[in-house]
Amino acid sequence: MGGRISELGEMLAARNIDALDGAVFDLGLSSYQIDDPSRGFSFRLDGPLDMRMGREGRDAAMIVNLCPESELADILYKYGDEKAARRVAKAVVERRKVQKFATTADLAGVIRSVVRPDKSGIDPATRSFQALRIAVNEELSDIETALEQAAALLKPGARLVVVSFHSLEDRIVKHFFAEQAGRKPAASRHDPAGLKPTVAPLFKLVKSAPVLPGLAEIRANPRARSAKLRALERLAA
Ligand SMILES: C[S@@+](CC[C@H](N)C(=O)[O-])C[C@H]1O[C@@H](n2cnc3c(N)ncnc32)[C@H](O)[C@@H]1O
Repeated sequence: MGGRISELGEMLAARNIDALDGAVFDLGLSSYQIDDPSRGFSFRLDGPLDMRMGREGRDAAMIVNLCPESELADILYKYGDEKAARRVAKAVVERRKVQKFATTADLAGVIRSVVRPDKSGIDPATRSFQALRIAVNEELSDIETALEQAAALLKPGARLVVVSFHSLEDRIVKHFFAEQAGRKPAASRHDPAGLKPTVAPLFKLVKSAPVLPGLAEIRANPRARSAKLRALERLAA
Protein backbone atom coordinates (compact mmCIF):
# COMPACT_ATOMS: atom_id res chain seq x y z
CA MET A 1 0.00 0.00 0.00
CA GLY A 2 1.78 3.17 -1.23
CA GLY A 3 0.81 6.80 -0.86
CA ARG A 4 1.32 9.90 1.25
CA ILE A 5 0.88 9.36 4.99
CA SER A 6 -1.56 12.27 4.90
CA GLU A 7 -3.84 10.03 2.81
CA LEU A 8 -3.75 7.25 5.43
CA GLY A 9 -7.46 7.46 6.22
CA GLU A 10 -8.47 7.21 2.55
CA MET A 11 -6.02 4.38 1.85
CA LEU A 12 -7.36 2.34 4.79
CA ALA A 13 -11.01 3.12 3.98
CA ALA A 14 -10.41 1.94 0.42
CA ARG A 15 -9.46 -1.41 1.99
CA ASN A 16 -12.41 -1.39 4.39
CA ILE A 17 -10.09 -0.90 7.35
CA ASP A 18 -11.90 1.29 9.87
CA ALA A 19 -9.81 0.63 12.98
CA LEU A 20 -6.16 -0.05 13.77
CA ASP A 21 -4.55 -2.47 16.23
CA GLY A 22 -1.51 -0.18 16.10
CA ALA A 23 0.45 2.19 13.87
CA VAL A 24 4.16 2.92 13.47
CA PHE A 25 5.54 5.97 11.64
CA ASP A 26 9.25 5.90 10.84
CA LEU A 27 9.57 9.43 9.52
CA GLY A 28 11.98 11.14 7.20
CA LEU A 29 14.23 9.66 4.56
CA SER A 30 15.47 6.09 4.09
CA SER A 31 19.15 5.32 3.67
CA TYR A 32 18.34 4.04 0.17
CA GLN A 33 17.05 7.47 -0.78
CA ILE A 34 20.02 9.35 0.78
CA ASP A 35 22.58 7.04 -0.83
CA ASP A 36 21.00 7.13 -4.32
CA PRO A 37 22.52 10.21 -6.09
CA SER A 38 19.72 10.18 -8.69
CA ARG A 39 17.20 11.13 -5.93
CA GLY A 40 19.05 14.38 -5.25
CA PHE A 41 18.73 14.33 -1.44
CA SER A 42 22.44 14.34 -0.65
CA PHE A 43 24.89 17.26 -0.74
CA ARG A 44 27.72 14.71 -0.64
CA LEU A 45 26.76 12.89 -3.86
CA ASP A 46 26.23 14.87 -7.07
CA GLY A 47 22.87 14.27 -8.70
CA PRO A 48 19.81 16.03 -10.11
CA LEU A 49 18.32 18.66 -7.76
CA ASP A 50 15.18 16.59 -7.15
CA MET A 51 14.49 15.65 -3.45
CA ARG A 52 10.96 14.35 -4.18
CA MET A 53 10.02 11.32 -2.09
CA GLY A 54 7.04 10.48 -4.25
CA ARG A 55 8.62 11.50 -7.62
CA GLU A 56 5.68 13.73 -8.50
CA GLY A 57 5.02 17.43 -7.95
CA ARG A 58 7.53 20.25 -7.74
CA ASP A 59 11.15 19.33 -7.15
CA ALA A 60 13.97 21.19 -5.38
CA ALA A 61 15.24 22.71 -8.63
CA MET A 62 11.87 24.44 -9.11
CA ILE A 63 12.04 25.96 -5.62
CA VAL A 64 15.69 27.03 -5.97
CA ASN A 65 15.30 28.44 -9.50
CA LEU A 66 11.84 30.01 -9.25
CA CYS A 67 11.04 30.96 -5.62
CA PRO A 68 11.21 34.70 -4.81
CA GLU A 69 14.28 35.47 -2.65
CA SER A 70 12.28 36.28 0.51
CA GLU A 71 10.21 33.08 0.21
CA LEU A 72 13.35 31.02 -0.30
CA ALA A 73 14.93 32.63 2.79
CA ASP A 74 11.80 31.84 4.82
CA ILE A 75 11.89 28.19 3.72
CA LEU A 76 15.56 27.86 4.71
CA TYR A 77 15.00 29.51 8.09
CA LYS A 78 11.66 27.87 8.98
CA TYR A 79 12.45 24.31 7.86
CA GLY A 80 16.23 24.28 8.33
CA ASP A 81 16.84 26.74 11.15
CA GLU A 82 19.54 28.16 8.83
CA LYS A 83 20.73 31.36 10.55
CA ALA A 84 22.31 32.51 7.25
CA ALA A 85 19.05 31.95 5.35
CA ARG A 86 18.97 35.48 3.86
CA ARG A 87 22.61 35.26 2.79
CA VAL A 88 22.05 31.85 1.14
CA ALA A 89 18.87 33.02 -0.63
CA LYS A 90 20.67 36.13 -1.91
CA ALA A 91 23.61 34.07 -3.25
CA VAL A 92 21.23 31.57 -4.91
CA VAL A 93 19.22 34.33 -6.60
CA GLU A 94 22.41 36.07 -7.80
CA ARG A 95 23.76 32.82 -9.25
CA ARG A 96 20.53 31.69 -10.94
CA LYS A 97 20.41 34.99 -12.88
CA VAL A 98 23.59 33.76 -14.60
CA GLN A 99 22.88 30.01 -14.66
CA LYS A 100 20.00 27.92 -13.34
CA PHE A 101 20.75 25.25 -10.72
CA ALA A 102 20.50 21.65 -11.89
CA THR A 103 22.59 19.56 -9.52
CA THR A 104 23.07 19.02 -5.79
CA ALA A 105 26.84 19.60 -5.88
CA ASP A 106 26.31 22.93 -7.68
CA LEU A 107 23.84 24.15 -5.04
CA ALA A 108 25.92 22.82 -2.15
CA GLY A 109 28.94 24.69 -3.53
CA VAL A 110 27.10 28.02 -3.58
CA ILE A 111 25.75 27.44 -0.04
CA ARG A 112 29.23 26.61 1.27
CA SER A 113 30.56 29.80 -0.32
CA VAL A 114 28.37 31.90 2.02
CA VAL A 115 27.89 29.67 5.11
CA ARG A 116 31.00 29.16 7.25
CA PRO A 117 31.42 25.76 8.94
CA ASP A 118 30.52 26.04 12.66
CA LYS A 119 31.55 24.16 15.80
CA SER A 120 29.02 21.38 15.13
CA GLY A 121 31.24 20.16 12.30
CA ILE A 122 28.19 19.43 10.14
CA ASP A 123 28.44 20.33 6.45
CA PRO A 124 27.34 23.99 5.92
CA ALA A 125 24.85 22.74 3.28
CA THR A 126 23.05 20.40 5.73
CA ARG A 127 20.40 22.80 7.04
CA SER A 128 19.50 24.25 3.61
CA PHE A 129 19.17 20.78 2.10
CA GLN A 130 16.94 19.63 4.98
CA ALA A 131 14.79 22.74 4.53
CA LEU A 132 14.38 22.23 0.78
CA ARG A 133 13.51 18.56 1.29
CA ILE A 134 10.81 19.40 3.85
CA ALA A 135 9.37 22.09 1.56
CA VAL A 136 9.41 19.88 -1.56
CA ASN A 137 7.58 17.04 0.26
CA GLU A 138 5.36 19.18 2.56
CA GLU A 139 6.58 16.83 5.27
CA LEU A 140 5.40 18.74 8.36
CA SER A 141 1.78 19.25 7.25
CA ASP A 142 1.68 15.59 6.16
CA ILE A 143 2.83 14.48 9.61
CA GLU A 144 0.18 16.61 11.36
CA THR A 145 -2.60 15.15 9.17
CA ALA A 146 -1.32 11.57 9.47
CA LEU A 147 -1.10 11.74 13.29
CA GLU A 148 -4.70 12.92 13.54
CA GLN A 149 -5.95 10.24 11.16
CA ALA A 150 -3.99 7.41 12.79
CA ALA A 151 -4.96 8.39 16.37
CA ALA A 152 -8.64 8.57 15.39
CA LEU A 153 -8.48 5.00 14.02
CA LEU A 154 -6.76 3.36 17.03
CA LYS A 155 -8.74 0.67 18.83
CA PRO A 156 -8.86 0.83 22.66
CA GLY A 157 -5.47 -0.39 23.94
CA ALA A 158 -3.80 0.21 20.56
CA ARG A 159 -0.66 2.32 20.25
CA LEU A 160 0.64 4.93 17.80
CA VAL A 161 4.44 4.85 17.75
CA VAL A 162 6.47 7.52 15.95
CA VAL A 163 10.20 7.71 15.28
CA SER A 164 11.31 11.21 14.31
CA PHE A 165 14.75 12.39 13.21
CA HIS A 166 14.85 16.14 13.70
CA SER A 167 13.45 18.70 16.14
CA LEU A 168 10.74 20.04 13.78
CA GLU A 169 9.23 16.55 13.39
CA ASP A 170 9.59 15.74 17.10
CA ARG A 171 8.00 19.03 18.17
CA ILE A 172 4.85 18.19 16.14
CA VAL A 173 4.66 14.66 17.57
CA LYS A 174 5.33 15.83 21.16
CA HIS A 175 2.65 18.52 21.09
CA PHE A 176 0.06 16.32 19.34
CA PHE A 177 0.61 13.49 21.82
CA ALA A 178 0.48 15.85 24.82
CA GLU A 179 -2.75 17.34 23.54
CA GLN A 180 -4.34 13.89 22.94
CA ALA A 181 -3.29 12.79 26.43
CA GLY A 182 -5.01 15.85 27.88
CA ARG A 183 -1.73 17.38 28.92
CA LYS A 184 -1.05 20.87 27.74
CA PRO A 185 2.67 21.15 27.21
CA ALA A 186 4.06 22.61 30.47
CA ALA A 187 4.69 26.31 29.83
CA SER A 188 7.97 25.62 31.63
CA ARG A 189 9.45 22.98 33.88
CA HIS A 190 8.59 25.33 36.74
CA ASP A 191 4.91 24.74 35.94
CA PRO A 192 4.15 21.15 36.97
CA ALA A 193 0.43 22.02 36.94
CA GLY A 194 0.73 22.10 33.19
CA LEU A 195 1.33 18.35 33.33
CA LYS A 196 -2.08 17.61 34.86
CA PRO A 197 -4.73 16.45 32.39
CA THR A 198 -7.42 19.15 31.86
CA VAL A 199 -10.17 16.88 30.38
CA ALA A 200 -10.80 13.12 30.50
CA PRO A 201 -8.31 12.15 27.81
CA LEU A 202 -8.96 9.31 25.33
CA PHE A 203 -5.24 8.57 25.16
CA LYS A 204 -2.24 8.28 27.44
CA LEU A 205 1.47 8.79 26.82
CA VAL A 206 3.26 5.44 27.05
CA LYS A 207 6.35 7.34 28.30
CA SER A 208 6.50 11.10 28.93
CA ALA A 209 10.11 11.31 27.74
CA PRO A 210 11.16 10.14 24.24
CA VAL A 211 13.13 6.89 23.85
CA LEU A 212 16.58 7.69 22.47
CA PRO A 213 19.08 5.39 20.69
CA GLY A 214 21.77 3.84 22.86
CA LEU A 215 25.52 4.15 22.19
CA ALA A 216 25.70 0.68 20.62
CA GLU A 217 22.91 1.55 18.18
CA ILE A 218 24.49 4.89 17.27
CA ARG A 219 27.85 3.16 16.72
CA ALA A 220 26.13 0.55 14.49
CA ASN A 221 23.96 3.14 12.70
CA PRO A 222 25.21 6.76 13.10
CA ARG A 223 22.11 7.98 11.20
CA ALA A 224 20.05 6.92 14.25
CA ARG A 225 21.83 9.46 16.50
CA SER A 226 19.04 12.05 16.28
CA ALA A 227 16.16 9.56 16.45
CA LYS A 228 13.41 10.01 19.06
CA LEU A 229 10.65 7.48 19.62
CA ARG A 230 7.36 8.49 21.23
CA ALA A 231 4.26 6.37 21.79
CA LEU A 232 0.61 7.16 22.46
CA GLU A 233 -1.94 4.56 23.65
CA ARG A 234 -5.70 4.68 23.17
CA LEU A 235 -7.38 4.22 26.52
CA ALA A 236 -10.31 1.84 26.95
CA ALA A 237 -13.39 3.51 25.38
C1 LIG B 1 13.03 6.49 7.61
S1 LIG B 1 12.37 5.83 6.13
C2 LIG B 1 11.64 4.34 6.64
C3 LIG B 1 12.64 3.26 6.59
C4 LIG B 1 12.02 1.92 6.87
N1 LIG B 1 11.50 1.84 8.23
C5 LIG B 1 13.12 0.89 6.65
O1 LIG B 1 13.55 0.37 7.68
O2 LIG B 1 13.47 0.68 5.50
C6 LIG B 1 10.95 6.80 5.88
C7 LIG B 1 10.20 6.44 4.60
O3 LIG B 1 9.00 7.17 4.64
C8 LIG B 1 8.73 7.76 3.38
N2 LIG B 1 8.00 9.01 3.63
C9 LIG B 1 8.46 10.13 4.21
N3 LIG B 1 7.48 11.08 4.26
C10 LIG B 1 6.39 10.51 3.71
C11 LIG B 1 5.05 10.95 3.46
N4 LIG B 1 4.69 12.18 3.77
N5 LIG B 1 4.18 10.11 2.89
C12 LIG B 1 4.56 8.85 2.55
N6 LIG B 1 5.82 8.35 2.74
C13 LIG B 1 6.71 9.19 3.31
C14 LIG B 1 10.11 8.04 2.81
O4 LIG B 1 10.03 8.10 1.41
C15 LIG B 1 10.93 6.85 3.33
O5 LIG B 1 10.89 5.79 2.42
